Amino acid sequence: MTSDVDGWVAVVTGAAAGIGLALVESYVADGARIVMADFDAPRLRSEAARLRASGAEVLDIAVDLGDAAAVDELAQRSVDRFGRIDVLCNNVGTIAFGPTWEIDLADWDRVLRVNLLSVVNGIRSFVPVMRAGGDDGHVVNTASMAAFMQLGGASSYVATKHAVVGLSIALAEDLEQAGSGIHVSVVCPGIVATAFAQPGAEIPPEDDLPAGVVSARAAAASIRAGMAARRFYVFTHEDSVDIVKDRYRRVLQGFDS
Ligand SMILES: NC(=O)c1ccc[n+]([C@@H]2O[C@H](COP(=O)([O-])OP(=O)(O)OC[C@H]3O[C@@H](n4cnc5c(N)ncnc54)[C@H](O)[C@@H]3O)[C@@H](O)[C@H]2O)c1
Repeated sequence: MTSDVDGWVAVVTGAAAGIGLALVESYVADGARIVMADFDAPRLRSEAARLRASGAEVLDIAVDLGDAAAVDELAQRSVDRFGRIDVLCNNVGTIAFGPTWEIDLADWDRVLRVNLLSVVNGIRSFVPVMRAGGDDGHVVNTASMAAFMQLGGASSYVATKHAVVGLSIALAEDLEQAGSGIHVSVVCPGIVATAFAQPGAEIPPEDDLPAGVVSARAAAASIRAGMAARRFYVFTHEDSVDIVKDRYRRVLQGFDS
């Protein structure tokens, strides 16, 4: 049976681990051709080799998504190899912890670069290619529930994830005004069992996850379902609805007399 993405070309950033790798596996299972991008070259190479051994058509490119020139080159090599781009998943992310006034400028710079500029770079390098090649497809930017919840201790992360939501809204408007058929989604995961917040940490098995935590595979399935339904906001946790309601309740309090 062919799926809706059979033969498509999907570019996934942060593809060597976590949600990005789970997205790649989900696309591969449905017959898509994949560009895997990540700056963890050894891990990227080994995951891509594993997928190719199972018959997948995969191009792996080690790249720092914060480097605009390198992302331009990534787009060029993707088009040279596959001739088209149907899906762009801007998924890389990083975090820094501490009270707002103590996060040092090097961490601010890193978090802004990886969480926000990587998405800008992906859009600037790939959207013109997608527009030129039929003007359809899907751009999927990964934000976080940190863009909706009351969360301290990681302000650079929270600020950049708000920015990814805003950037995605503006991108969708720009594409619509340009008459483009490219869809935009912004993904807002709750806690997903990856090594994101604790690099090197062991990831518990899928059947032994703490309450409120979902597996990367389940998160990828929610993202794919949200994309298929052409939803702009894509959530991975059912209880995120309460966080969103609380956010807008707080916003509306600004009108209290
Ligand atoms: N895991 C969670 O609980 C959670 C919750 C909400 C949002 N998110 C978001 O989901 C996305 C994916 O997170 P994850 O949990 O899969 O993380 P992860 O750490 O498991 O994977 C991220 C991947 O991105 C790569 N990467 C990081 N910076 C890069 C850069 N500059 N250039 C190239 N590759 C880079 C890493 O090498 C890694 O392979 C992130 O944007 C994160 O903010 C995660």
